[in-house]
Amino acid sequence: MKISVVGTGYVGLVTGTCFAETGVIVTCVDIDKVKIEKLKKGIIPIYEPGLETMVKRNVEKERLFFTTNLKESLEGAESVFIAVGTPPDEDGSADLKHVIAVAREIGQHMTQYIVVTTKSTVPIGTAKKVKAAVQQELDKRGANIPFDVASNPEFLKEGAAIDDFLKPDRIVIGTESEEAEKLMRKLYKPFLLNGHPIVFMDIPSAELTKYAANAMLATRISFMNDIANLCEIVGADVNMVRKGIGSDTRIGNKFIYPGAGYGGSCFPKDVKALIKTADEHKYSLQVLKAVESVNDSQKEIIFNKIMQYFNGNVKGKRFAIWGLSFKPNTDDMREAPSLVVISKLVEAGATVKAYDPVAMEETKHKIGNTILYAADQYDATIEADALVLMTEWQEFRVLNYKTLAKNLKSKIIFDGRNIYEPNEMIEEGFTYYSIGRKAINH
Ligand SMILES: NC(=O)c1ccc[n+]([C@@H]2O[C@H](COP(=O)([O-])OP(=O)(O)OC[C@H]3O[C@@H](n4cnc5c(N)ncnc54)[C@H](O)[C@@H]3O)[C@@H](O)[C@H]2O)c1
Repeated sequence: MKISVVGTGYVGLVTGTCFAETGVIVTCVDIDKVKIEKLKKGIIPIYEPGLETMVKRNVEKERLFFTTNLKESLEGAESVFIAVGTPPDEDGSADLKHVIAVAREIGQHMTQYIVVTTKSTVPIGTAKKVKAAVQQELDKRGANIPFDVASNPEFLKEGAAIDDFLKPDRIVIGTESEEAEKLMRKLYKPFLLNGHPIVFMDIPSAELTKYAANAMLATRISFMNDIANLCEIVGADVNMVRKGIGSDTRIGNKFIYPGAGYGGSCFPKDVKALIKTADEHKYSLQVLKAVESVNDSQKEIIFNKIMQYFNGNVKGKRFAIWGLSFKPNTDDMREAPSLVVISKLVEAGATVKAYDPVAMEETKHKIGNTILYAADQYDATIEADALVLMTEWQEFRVLNYKTLAKNLKSKIIFDGRNIYEPNEMIEEGFTYYSIGRKAINH
């Protein structure tokens, strides 16, 4: 079996590689020539644990190919997966220009029956637009070639993408075509040996499922952040509340950790796009509007705590920031809460020296030399007025208190992810601010 995957970002590259791993011949396509040249040489443009080895293995076995030539990738392919970016447009809706451009190119070049599958996160009605774009191009060249469309949203998590793809909780497919259904069953069978379901549905339901899933997860986070802020006001401990509610099987333990706000390439843009879709249909998604606004203020919460501690003046102060990526195990900086804190600190006249195990290059692309970059986490703390933790990488979890005490001008920690124990801070004599828990002052 042969397929084509268009777009070799986090989703396309993982999708293509994991299909190749099952023996399917996969051609991954991207318009970014530099990216494709790097991939051909085995250089992976993103940080994703386990991906590099898997890409190399499948390239060597001649099951995984990279090209900028979409036409070439379609030859003999039974399905083409569209996995290009759908960034937010100025009004918050998903920008479909890349998806439609690919659909047009497919229509221009396809020579046999193919299933055109959207894997990008796209609003309801997109599969229809894709179908129309392909058909228009076929009509232009007078070609009478049948094709079907399917919607196959992706639920992988950056940082655990390979595992999520190989062992998905479920596969969602929206299609009206029996042939497309048969093909999807065949393609996904190797990933469903654990008994997890492949759920077939109509196309609009599949398109909405992806947004509803991300919106639900974002809602849990914002809800917990709201509760955390109330905890601080009334003197409760959000960690206790979290454990108390999480052990209720109706609620569960996942996605109820408070912090410095959600970021990344998906939650912020998908919440925005879903609100926009509803607005366009004259329906107001009130819960999601609140989710977004809570998150916007939560991204500023660590900066506000810093300002409060330093009496509103951080001019000339220096801060060590640990963690830049929007979450651990990725170098993705899109909508990262660290960027909000950094820009506010810099604007207020402070200096920042940051360290992240993998995201410093990506940060340099985004904000260049507005901050200093440290050689390691403790280097960042030398002569700093406080340590600010923004991303909960494993290597930050156990502190070397002696080195910190030696390096920092004052023993102060702002913890945006609640990874440290307040009791330990009391014992070690550190001033400690976290989320939804009492501050410890020395
Ligand atoms: N990143 C995630 O964790 C995740 C998870 C689930 C779903 N999604 C969705 O999947 C889609 C892709 O996300 P991503 O994070 O992989 O994006 P990305 O920005 O990392 O990659 C997109 C790739 O598409 C390429 N591209 C753009 N236009 C093209 C064209 N005309 N032809 C060929 N290639 C083209 C770009 O060069 C880029 O390499 C988005 O809709 C996103 O919402 C992302």
